[in-house]
Amino acid sequence: MTHKRTTRLSRRQFLKAAGAAAGALAAGPVLSACGPAATTAAPTATASPPLKIGILLPYSDIYAALGESITAGMEMYFESVGNTAGGRKIELTKEDEGTKPDEALQKARKLVEQDKVDLVAGIVSSGVAAACRDFFDETQNVLIIANAGSNALTRAAKSKYIFRTSFTNWQPNWPLGTWAYENVGKKAMISVPDYGAGHDMEKAFMNSFQAAGGEVLGQQYTPFPNMGDPAPFITELANSGADFIYAFYSGGAAVTFVKAYGDFGLTGTLPFVCAGFAVEEDVLPAQGNAALGAKSGLHWALRLDNEVNKKFTADYKTRTSKDANVFAVQGYDTGRVIVEAINATQGNTGDKDKLIEAIAGVTFDGPRGAFKMDPNTHNVIQHIYIRDVQEVDGALHNVILKDVGEIADPGDDSKG
Ligand code: PHB
Repeated sequence: MTHKRTTRLSRRQFLKAAGAAAGALAAGPVLSACGPAATTAAPTATASPPLKIGILLPYSDIYAALGESITAGMEMYFESVGNTAGGRKIELTKEDEGTKPDEALQKARKLVEQDKVDLVAGIVSSGVAAACRDFFDETQNVLIIANAGSNALTRAAKSKYIFRTSFTNWQPNWPLGTWAYENVGKKAMISVPDYGAGHDMEKAFMNSFQAAGGEVLGQQYTPFPNMGDPAPFITELANSGADFIYAFYSGGAAVTFVKAYGDFGLTGTLPFVCAGFAVEEDVLPAQGNAALGAKSGLHWALRLDNEVNKKFTADYKTRTSKDANVFAVQGYDTGRVIVEAINATQGNTGDKDKLIEAIAGVTFDGPRGAFKMDPNTHNVIQHIYIRDVQEVDGALHNVILKDVGEIADPGDDSKG
């Protein structure tokens, strides 16, 4: 252990020295990641070795399909740039995140200390992200979160070394609370899994829903990761007297929950409002008509009308024979953030401050529209869409009802 730590530190010091030799980058906050400002030549020593990226994503348990989608999206982007960044060949080392925070933290350690990756990308679960936070912060290694929405990582527990290309759990839910009050009903019953992400999401929804005048009749917390038999939970919702249900579930849990909602005859009779992951394109085919009419908030939709999205969704379908989903978008955009930042540092990953400055400055038009990294919170600023599950050309998809505009996490708990 002590030996490994010594080895890692001396390597970092070496790379830092190599980075210092490359000279300072121009400090342009936005343009620095986009090319023109980064004209300093990188030393051959840092330009030639492969760029080692550690991938920590779930390939087992309820979030396995999310991990597969993020991986496919990221690999698709890397292939589109010839698998190189800053003159270095991209090399991926993958570890299974699972759903257990302590086990996932060991995998993160292994990627950094044994595999000696230049940076780590991935993490789907908020519990895992929270468990890994101190490791990356204290060892000063860069982590780019490609899904886990834990609000705290953008607020009280934010770290200079941690970025997020996906969302905070607050982002899709806070605009949804106001919209649901105005368009769906005044009395809500809530159902979320009993872990960090579930609590973050309900808090954001409740904050704006109650501020608008809405009443929350009760909250139901289901066991995570596996809720077991959904029947008692669905029965409680059916008997709650609410105008509608608000929920967050994802992956395997979203299929279990929404199918049971349909089996109990609630679809179409008790309106279903949710964080968009619960009825995203990855789970819709398995949920079938049980998901019809579900209203949700999310930062992307399959039919979002922009040129990058049209090409992305067509290429993804060719590659996987499946419709794209929000997780694939997050993987694709994570790949792009990494490549643009490493191009901007001309392959230098040793000087952490320059790498961080480059990542913080990345902006581009991606499948979700304008992608902007917030240099203060290190979390993406993006539009949120209100969506409705409808039948389109013989299949169920999320149709956009409203673009609520650009939403940046407030960076504190003042709005839920
Ligand atoms: C999370 O744990 O932060 C999380 C997991 C799955 C989602 C969204 C958020 O779809």
